[in-house]
Amino acid sequence: MYRDRIRLDALQSKVMSAADAAGLIKDGMTVGMSGFTRAGEAKAVPHALAERAKQTPLQITLMTGASLGNDLDKQLTEAGVLARRMPFQVDSTLRKAINDGKVMFIDQHLSDTVEQLRNRQIKPVDLAVIECVAITEEGHLVLSTSVGNSASFAILAKEVIVEINLSQPLELEGLHDVYIPSYRPTRLPIPVLKSDTRIGSGAVKIDPAKIVGIVISNQPDSPSTVLPPDADTQAIADHLVDFFKNEVAEGRLTNSLMPLQAGIGTIANAVMCGLVDSPFENLTMYSEVLQDSTFDLFDAGKLEFASGSSMTLSAKKHAEVFSDFNRYKSRLVLRPQEISNHPEVIRRLGIIGINTALEFDLYGNVNSTHVCGTKMMNGIGGSGDFARNAHLAIFVTKSIAKGGAISSVVPMVSHVDHTEHDVDILVTEIGLADLRGLAPRERARAIIDNCVHPSYRAALNEYFEAACARGGHTPHILRGALQWHSNLEETGRMLAV
Ligand code: COA
Repeated sequence: MYRDRIRLDALQSKVMSAADAAGLIKDGMTVGMSGFTRAGEAKAVPHALAERAKQTPLQITLMTGASLGNDLDKQLTEAGVLARRMPFQVDSTLRKAINDGKVMFIDQHLSDTVEQLRNRQIKPVDLAVIECVAITEEGHLVLSTSVGNSASFAILAKEVIVEINLSQPLELEGLHDVYIPSYRPTRLPIPVLKSDTRIGSGAVKIDPAKIVGIVISNQPDSPSTVLPPDADTQAIADHLVDFFKNEVAEGRLTNSLMPLQAGIGTIANAVMCGLVDSPFENLTMYSEVLQDSTFDLFDAGKLEFASGSSMTLSAKKHAEVFSDFNRYKSRLVLRPQEISNHPEVIRRLGIIGINTALEFDLYGNVNSTHVCGTKMMNGIGGSGDFARNAHLAIFVTKSIAKGGAISSVVPMVSHVDHTEHDVDILVTEIGLADLRGLAPRERARAIIDNCVHPSYRAALNEYFEAACARGGHTPHILRGALQWHSNLEETGRMLAV
């Protein structure tokens, strides 16, 4: 059965139903599942697990690469399966359960999870559930549209369930580069010298005796939900393109810039789309998620090579790309997320990291995760891996949210993900603040003059001037610093403007 997909004959006897495979997951287990930014997640087994839990309650700790598609986090939350969840999510039902304190969510730098597992700093993975396009003659796993944490989950788990997804094309074989860092204290440097360096194997090498079940599935990845660029995101892209042009003119960058990383979501995708009509050429990406914009840049002849950990495409782009995947395949690689996001590699390659802020403050501290300092949105994802180690750490956001009720530029952020020490450039549709080499009072001036929405500028100026009158290296009025957030909680608006 499916001999092109299950090539080790001895494993044919392991084929079972999703319900039987889900039955192998026991209450209290720590389960590592494939899936990264809604790509390549195990689909049939978690669905069957949620169905089973409706009859026979059970709870697990669920680790993935990043977010899951196909409403799986919603189904698992509603069935009460999730006791603990890490390291990232984007699902509104799970988000509510996290914010209600019902699911313990560990919001983690995406490069960290398997490092902590390998070093036994967190509870080990009992069982891994991994989506694959095939199992090789040696019993090794050929992954699908994401690598994420799948390789280490499969290597470190005691038992592995494989989902062979027939809707994922066999052409994906050869795309992956699976490299696992060696153990300390004898760890070697990770030898990625350019975006296109391949350093590992095409499949995940595990002992096939660990494979306790194989489930055949046929459900595609969920299409990405990013919205097309609008006037504001186009303006953000235009400011960035002008900034890059100036960097080239000043001799700090060449016309091919440095390897680019772009975060998840609508804004980061739109910013990358903005490079399609730019003068830059022979671009490369060393990123984690490859969105539609990556393929737009390939098609425009702007991009030479893209390294990522997953591919998350809209339905239209997915159909286009997979109608002739070989056109792109030799210019793509998917790596484990600890390699795509590895501080050592990011620092070596000199990445330009472009990530999205929920809000930033006068001095350049960035909050990417917590609304009003308390309510989790999605998680830090890889933004910290990149920002802390990038050649240029850039954060973008629209200057206002919720129709102007919220200013994305505030006196003091209500939660800090990226400190002022890690942030080089801030961009809104209003303009760009270049914070390099500036002291806090200078940073505040650059941010107020360039990034704040006009309806909040006078109030922010007033706060800053009153704070400066009190003194300090980083002037603040502690009793008023979070006043805008308190107003938002109490009245639904940050200011009565
Ligand atoms: N306070 C409250 N809500 C805010 C806000 C603020 N300061 N700024 C934006 N929002 C809301 C928006 O109104 C929108 O809400 P909606 O979904 O109800 O319409 C939502 O946040 C998303 O904002 P949007 O402007 O559409 O941007 P996005 O899709 O690009 O997402 C982040 C922005 C910050 C939520 C997203 O990029 C993220 O989760 N980042 C953290 C992880 C990360 O950076 N990973 C990068 C490596 S992959």
